[in-house]
Formats: sequence, structure tokens, C-alpha cells
Amino acid sequence: MPFLSRVSLPPLQGNGYLQNIPSLNNGLQLALKSNVTFFVGENGSGKSTLLEGIAEQCGFSLRGGNHNLNTGYRFEGYESALAQHIQLSWTPRRINEGFFMRAESFFNFASYIDELAVDNRRILNAYGGKSLHEQSHGESFLSLFNNHFDNGIYILDEPEAALSPARILAFISVIHQLEQSGRAQFLIATHSPMLICYPGATICQFNEDGVVETSYEDTEHFQLTKSFLDNPALYLRHLMDK
Ligand SMILES: Nc1ncnc2c1ncn2[C@@H]1O[C@H](COP(=O)(O)OP(=O)(O)OP(=O)(O)O)[C@@H](O)[C@H]1O
Ligand SMILES: [Mg+2]
Repeated sequence: MPFLSRVSLPPLQGNGYLQNIPSLNNGLQLALKSNVTFFVGENGSGKSTLLEGIAEQCGFSLRGGNHNLNTGYRFEGYESALAQHIQLSWTPRRINEGFFMRAESFFNFASYIDELAVDNRRILNAYGGKSLHEQSHGESFLSLFNNHFDNGIYILDEPEAALSPARILAFISVIHQLEQSGRAQFLIATHSPMLICYPGATICQFNEDGVVETSYEDTEHFQLTKSFLDNPALYLRHLMDK
């Protein structure tokens, strides 16, 4: 049973860019029924916008990183345009531990950890014992998952950007260990057809008319990747003959 159990958004008034996102502008009621939820959809369909709004309502900084680490780092007001409209429901209670991370902000996060480590080298123990800048993108990402994830809610935007297919499987196993402990919840925006196969996950598809639940077999990510890999030559011939 997840901690964060519902995300509510009223229909959006006004005429900013939020009102032009078709998946979100009519409002939504998202029931989070499992400990692992994926957001999938076309580029620009609103996944990061919603994820960032949720992360900010959870109390995480959008610069990425751990809630506690960032307490000296807080900002005034909301960074995400959507956050002020979002309401979260928690069952049985609100939790504050966890993490928000975008693959593209990982470099800045690594620098921030290095700065903290100047005064306290032991901080690096939580990240595999050495600076995240001295590890490859995927190595450092996984050492973060392996060493730092524990109890809490983990909100991740495209974690697969750092990971080879083998490391995606390793990541799936880390998610499984934490999820089974009943103390961790994951909300992940992704384009990875492998990641979304996670058993029992809820998959939210961002469409032209809202956000709907689907199965991994019914996503375009899964179907197109599978049929492409079944016969790449066929697809490529078709594309290049034009
Ligand atoms: N700060 C901003 N100002 C104006 N428009 C924005 C802003 N941030 C996002 N948008 C627009 O909102 C829409 C949704 O963007 P969002 O980043 O949520 O998409 P996404 O589903 O995460 O896409 P991707 O899969 O490419 O990461 C896009 O059309 C984008 O151009
Ligand atoms: Mg995005």
C-alpha cells in the first residue's frame, strides 16, 4: 500500500502554458494503488510538469536531491508552476523522507555532494565511497540507488538516461528490494520499455484527453520498440526509402 495515495488537480483556469497541456488542463484524479507508478507518454505530454509539481508538494527541492540535505537550500514560493494547484492525499500518513531526481540535474547534484564532502568526507560513504564525478554517469546513479535509497518516496525523471540495459535490470532489482520492504514508493517518468515491465506497477499514460491507466503491453514504447527490434531492417528500409 503506497504512502502517497492520490494526486488531485482541478481543471486549470487562465491562459498560461499549463492550460495548453492537453493531458492536464481538464484536471485529474490519480489513484496511486501500487508502490511503483510510471508516467509514460509522448515528448511534451506533461509528465515532467506533473512530476515536478508532485515533488514540490512533497517538499523536495526541484534542484534534485534528498529532502534533508536540502533544508539549508530552500526557496521562497513554488518553483514549479503546477505545484500550487496540486493536492496530495497520504495513507496512512504523510512521509517526508525521499528524493527527487532528474537525470539531467544529476551533474549539479554530484557537485553539491562534493562541496559538502569538503567538510565531511564521510558523506561520500553514502555514494559508494568516492566523488560521484569520479564515477561514470550510470555507475554514480546506481551507487546512489544502492547506497542512499532506503525509506521514503522516490520521484525520478527518466532515470534510464544514465543506465545501460543491464543496469536497468539492476535498477529494477533495487526497486524490488525497497518496494518489498513496504517502506518505499516510486514515481517514475520514463521512456524505457524495459522499466515499465516492472510487475504490478501502475502505468499512467499521458494522452490528448487526460491521464489514463494502461498496461505495459499497450504502451507505444513497448509495442514500437518490440516490433522494431523484431525486424530493424524492415523499419529502416521503409524510413530511408522516402
Ligand atoms: N517553463 C515552461 N514554460 C513554457 N512551457 C513549458 C515550460 N515547461 C514545460 N513547458 C511545455 O509544457 C509541455 C509539457 O512539458 P513536459 O516537460 O512536462 O513534457 P514531458 O512529458 O516531460 O516530455 P519529455 O518526454 O520530452 O520529457 C511541453 O509542451 C513544454 O514545451
Ligand atoms: Mg520530461
